[in-house]
Amino acid sequence: MLIPLVLSGGSGTRLWPVSRKNLPKQFLSLMGQGTLFQQTVARTRLLPDVASPIVVASEDHRFLVAEQLLESGIQDATIVLEPLPRNTAPAIALGALQAVGQDPEALLLVLPADHLIGDEDSFRDAVEQALPAARDNWLVTFGIRPDRPETGFGYIRRGDAIGGHAYKVAEFVEKPALETAQGYIEHGGYDWNSGMFLFKAARFLDELAAHAPAMLQAVRAAHASAKADLDFVRVDADAFAQVPENSIDYAVMEKTRHAAVIPVSCAWSDIGSWSALWLAGVRDAQDNLREGDTIAIKTHRSLLRSHDRHLLATVGVDDLIVVTTPDATLVAHRDAAQDVKRVVDELKAAG
Ligand code: GDD
Ligand code: MG
Repeated sequence: MLIPLVLSGGSGTRLWPVSRKNLPKQFLSLMGQGTLFQQTVARTRLLPDVASPIVVASEDHRFLVAEQLLESGIQDATIVLEPLPRNTAPAIALGALQAVGQDPEALLLVLPADHLIGDEDSFRDAVEQALPAARDNWLVTFGIRPDRPETGFGYIRRGDAIGGHAYKVAEFVEKPALETAQGYIEHGGYDWNSGMFLFKAARFLDELAAHAPAMLQAVRAAHASAKADLDFVRVDADAFAQVPENSIDYAVMEKTRHAAVIPVSCAWSDIGSWSALWLAGVRDAQDNLREGDTIAIKTHRSLLRSHDRHLLATVGVDDLIVVTTPDATLVAHRDAAQDVKRVVDELKAAG
């Protein structure tokens, strides 16, 4: 059984002021039909012989998740609620425990809820290509051809071919320093880790047992005490608070010797920042990405996003990000898009 596991716990602080604590980016319509979360779930429905999805999300967003699924006409999802964020390794472990409960042989397709995928057909092809390796007990990642030394990603050095379209992962380096990333780009032979994975749920749990046994034990305890009602599987707050925090990338992928990569050619973006959205979007003749009521005179390579009927006009500016919402306006240089999260840090510090 192939079970999609949609990870929906992130906060998307770099897309402030549109992405907020109560409405993070996966629940926003940033591009295309529906929200990123809805697009992710819809994408799983195109896969052959696929079971209903498991969604692991923050308890704070339970109504958003339920409403957006309902709006998409999806009534069979299992929604597991985390009382607090513990990063991706525990979230995936929760999903894996839920999945083996349904089928001990379950294959888990881990999908971040906040990615844009340009081409649904090549996504489906990639998943189908990954199936044999996953059945063969590999932890399969989907590799994206890099085009810049982005430091927010994991890098995968391709090793030997292991049959079909898969390669052994020779080395996995999560979020390298800029000079290291530049070296990888010059060297070639590296893929970005897309953050999507396919593996047997039980195999992932075995890897956690080997590389992060305390985490597995704590997640097992939390899952065992979870309470299911009609709508949600609710994990106990005290039990989940005992779980150490870490990402799958640091906790497992950097350490395991059983990782494989399927290179994927589809257009992909994790919409990690406003500049990533600008890059992924359909821009006008002046290279501007515009949304809402905007007038752009002598303006180039900018992202302009106005809210509701608020008119946003720019004159004689280049490479800017201007985003308005009812209670906040962001003006940033496109090169500084990563630092937008510092605004959120400062707001948090101010209480
Ligand atoms: N349920 C749940 N709980 N989901 C979470 C949590 C959590 O505590 N933390 C993060 N997520 C979700 C996010 O919503 C996102 O969809 C996904 O898991 C990945 O988390 P990010 O926090 O966005 O990770 P990242 O972008 O820093 O790095 C990962 O993705 C990159 C590609 O976008 C890594 O896998 C990198 O190696 C990869 O290159
Ligand atoms: Mg991300």
